[in-house]
Amino acid sequence: MNDTKTKEVILSGMQPTGSLHVGNLEGALRNWVELQHDYEMYLCIVDWHALTAEYQHPEVLKEQIFQMAVDFLAAGLEPEKCAIFIQSDVKEHLELHWIFSLMISVPTLTRLPTYTEKKDTLDSYAFLGYPVLQAADICVYNAHKVPVGKDQAKHIWLANDLAKRFNNYYGPTLNEPEGLFRKIPLILGSDNRKMSKSYNNHLPIDMTEEETQKRIRTFYTDEKKIRRGDPGRPEQCPVFLLHRVYTPNAEEEVAPPCKTGELGCVDCKKKLTDNLNDALRPIRERRTALMATPDYIWDVLTTGGNKARKRAAEVMDSVRSAMKINYRG
Ligand code: TRP
Ligand code: SF4
Repeated sequence: MNDTKTKEVILSGMQPTGSLHVGNLEGALRNWVELQHDYEMYLCIVDWHALTAEYQHPEVLKEQIFQMAVDFLAAGLEPEKCAIFIQSDVKEHLELHWIFSLMISVPTLTRLPTYTEKKDTLDSYAFLGYPVLQAADICVYNAHKVPVGKDQAKHIWLANDLAKRFNNYYGPTLNEPEGLFRKIPLILGSDNRKMSKSYNNHLPIDMTEEETQKRIRTFYTDEKKIRRGDPGRPEQCPVFLLHRVYTPNAEEEVAPPCKTGELGCVDCKKKLTDNLNDALRPIRERRTALMATPDYIWDVLTTGGNKARKRAAEVMDSVRSAMKINYRG
C-alpha cells in the first residue's frame, strides 16, 4: 500500500491524561507506530472528551496535552506520517457531533456501559453525548478503520451505526467505520487490576530507572509464594505478564523456575526491572530531548491540526451537501 490515494484512513483518539504508562505503550502506541506506515493516519488528543470529567480544572489540560504529544513522538510516531492533533483545534468535530446527536435517542445512550458505569458521578448532558462526539471524531475524517482496545467496541459500533443512519437518510456519504482490534498483550497494574493512572497502579514511561525499580517492588505477586522455594503460579502474577513482554523466552526462563520455587520474587522482579529499563531507555532519552524543544512540540500539533482540518472540512462539505444545508452552494 504505497500509493497515497489508495491508502485507507485510520483515526484513533486518546484522552490527554498526561504522560503515558507501559499499558498505553503496549496496548495502543506500538500498534499505531506500526500502522502509520500503511495507512493515512490521524491521531487525535481528545481534549473535549477529557473536559467531561475535568471541567472544574481545565487549566491542567495544556500540560497534559503537551506531555502526551511528547510521549507519542518519543514512542516513534512520525509527524510526517501521521497527523497528531488536538481535537478542539478542528471545529468540524462539534458540527458533526450536533448532526449525529439529532439521529440518536437518549435511551440508546443511557444504555451504553460507559454511561451506566459513571452516571452517578458524571451525569452531564455532555457526558451522555460522549460516544456521539467520539462517532463524530471518527466520521468527520471518513475513517475506514479505528485502532482501539476491545473496551471501545460499543463506541465503534455506535459510530458505524450513525454513519449508516446518515447514509440512509441523506444518501451514501460517509464511510461506515470499523474497529481494528489487534491482539495486545495483557498488562495489569501493581494491584493486579487493569493498569491505569486513576488507580495509581501504573508504570509511567517517564519514571527514572530508580523509580521504576521501586514501583516494581510494590507489585503484587502470586499470594501463595511467600519466599524463595515456595512454588509460584506465574499465570496469576502481574510481574510475569510484564516478563512476557519484556523478557525474551519468559515462558522458558521465568515460568519454570517460578513454578519450582528455584526463582524467588525478589530476583524475578529485579530481572524484570532491568529488562523494562533497557526497553524504555531509548524512549526515555528521546523524551528528554523532546521536552527541551517545546516549540517543536506545539508546531507538530499545529501542523497536524492543519492537515486534519483540511480533510474534516471536505467531509463536512459533503455532509452539508447531502443534507441540502449548504445554503449558498
Ligand atoms: N473514548 C476513547 C477512550 O477512552 C477515546 C476516544 C475519543 C477515541 N474519540 C475517539 C478513540 C475516536 C478512538 C476514536 O479511549
Ligand atoms: Fe511472580 Fe516472578 Fe514471583 Fe513467580 S517468581 S510469583 S512470576 S514475581
